[in-house]
Amino acid sequence: MSDLRYLVRTTCLLESRSEQYGAYLERALGPEHAEWVGEWAAEEAHHGAVLREWLDAHDPEFDFAERFARLEALPYHADAAADRAPAEELLSRCVVEALAAGFYRALRDATDDDSLKRVCGRLMSDEARHFKGFRRRLEALPELSSAAKIRVIAQRVRELDDDQIVFASHCANHDGAYSHRTAHARYMGRVYAIYRREHLAFVQSMIFTALGGRPSRRASRAISRVLAGVISAKRARLSWVGA
Ligand SMILES: [Fe+2]
Ligand SMILES: [Fe+2]
Repeated sequence: MSDLRYLVRTTCLLESRSEQYGAYLERALGPEHAEWVGEWAAEEAHHGAVLREWLDAHDPEFDFAERFARLEALPYHADAAADRAPAEELLSRCVVEALAAGFYRALRDATDDDSLKRVCGRLMSDEARHFKGFRRRLEALPELSSAAKIRVIAQRVRELDDDQIVFASHCANHDGAYSHRTAHARYMGRVYAIYRREHLAFVQSMIFTALGGRPSRRASRAISRVLAGVISAKRARLSWVGA
């Protein structure tokens, strides 16, 4: 199977889980954000549907219902005690939306399939709009300290290869027993393969705006180092095990 279809399958499952993301976010952010969170979750679900439509046309072997049922066995943020404070959650969501926009941009640039290019372009714009929505809500709250901002960003980038995403890649593409280590290497190897310098710069510039406008040169360098450090450490840890 092509590496890009592997990624589209995984993303389709993840985007289709948005009802659970919405329920979690409503709990973490509070009822005053419920209406907007509901609209956001519906758009994320639509992303799942759009990718599913593309897969129906280009990947007939992909059985969405069967693959999605496997992913649903994994609980999502089941422990309310581990919820972040609202400002930290909003900044974390900004990072996730920036990464999602960067991912769709990288996927758009990596494919030569025109229909997938169009889909990725549209979803990239939606993710950038979601990013702005979370950023606006973050700006309405008392500002986090610089140390807290850097901690939240580093933690969220580190969580990129958490079990939700890696397990989704396994459910979407493989049968048989799940090994986090193997699934991680298979999935992240494919993700890193499509990222180029301009995609990282795009993500980074969005994250900078979530930090409160134009950061000082020192803060910019610290964030760049965090992003580049986490990503290169992940790359170094990866041993490519193939499909
Ligand atoms: Fe999305
Ligand atoms: Fe989004």
